[in-house]
Amino acid sequence: MAERAGIIGVGASVPERVLTNHDLEQMVLTSDEWITQRTGIKERRILREGEDPARLGIEAAGMALASAGIRPEEVELVITSSNVQIMPVPGSSPFIIEGLRDRKGTTDRHVPFFDLVAGCTGFIYALEVARCMFGGGYRHILVVGLESLSRFTNWQERETCVLFGDGAGAVVVGPVEGGRGILASHIAADSTQWALLRVEAGGTRTPATAETVAAGQHFLRMEGRGVFEEAVKMMERATLLALEQAQLSKEEVAWFVPHQANLRIIKAFAARLHLPWTKVLVNIDRYGNTSTASIPLALAEAAQDNRLRKGDLVVLVGFGAGVTYGATVIRW
Ligand code: UT7
Repeated sequence: MAERAGIIGVGASVPERVLTNHDLEQMVLTSDEWITQRTGIKERRILREGEDPARLGIEAAGMALASAGIRPEEVELVITSSNVQIMPVPGSSPFIIEGLRDRKGTTDRHVPFFDLVAGCTGFIYALEVARCMFGGGYRHILVVGLESLSRFTNWQERETCVLFGDGAGAVVVGPVEGGRGILASHIAADSTQWALLRVEAGGTRTPATAETVAAGQHFLRMEGRGVFEEAVKMMERATLLALEQAQLSKEEVAWFVPHQANLRIIKAFAARLHLPWTKVLVNIDRYGNTSTASIPLALAEAAQDNRLRKGDLVVLVGFGAGVTYGATVIRW
């Protein structure tokens, strides 16, 4: 049977510092009860001041390569998805490559890279780009989802600061056989709704100034309820369209891996599709919403504890700023 692009290695990394709901009770007017009931989050990992977010990406990438049995010098392309990059220029990827280069056995090969911005759906978008690049001849592609939104969080605004966590997940896309691999993908976006999730300043329309910082325009802003309603519909739509493209039914799926934004969103999505809850991967209670890192983080955990098995049919599905959404169907 023909060779296809598949996920041949997976890894993840989160900061050591744990921020619990009880810690947040000391920071803003909120409660463990409110956060648990409305979001399902109990704690999240947050970078310490001065801690380099690149380390998360490097560790996740290193684990993914090790689990794939691939040496860093065999990587032919790196795609890093983030909402906000380690530096506006040159982005995030070069810092991950630099970190891998420092590891034993790495050569000085000039590996091409680019960063991809598609909100929390970034990982699904990056996977689709990797699949296309594989079709164009790239054999081993490192896809990293790296997020450190704590650096763009207003820690005095209870509506957003309870939601997000930092983390990174990575996969190696490479050749697989025997009917395995990425079977189908549906990516889409409704750009008319871009204002639902935004960081207003720090880009070229409104460059960062003392005034924009004083006005808090560099913080992530969100219309939570609007995002919630769109998210459920978009995840359902993307899942059904990707499965239809793969000519498979939802009953054949072993694992649904939704973006971990809010437990209520995940439950509403599962209810609309009548999915058995036992088939839905959830870890939002421990990490909060790690945005574009949430799907590979959940995949890495499930692969590590052997819940994900070779041959399992897996659906990744997400939504995010833009408003972007998408789903990927994989024979693991
Ligand atoms: O990756 C994509 C990123 N974003 C998302 O996925 C977010 C999607 N949206 C959500 O998850 C939910 O909309 C939230 C969790 C953000 C909010 O839940 P909600 O059920 O939509 O609550 P709400 O915004 O309608 O607010 C209900 C009340 C308000 O008070 P009043 O006006 O009813 O008196 C809020 O001020 O809850 C209040 N509230 C809080 N109370 C305690 C908002 N945040 C908090 C808080 N603690 N942290």
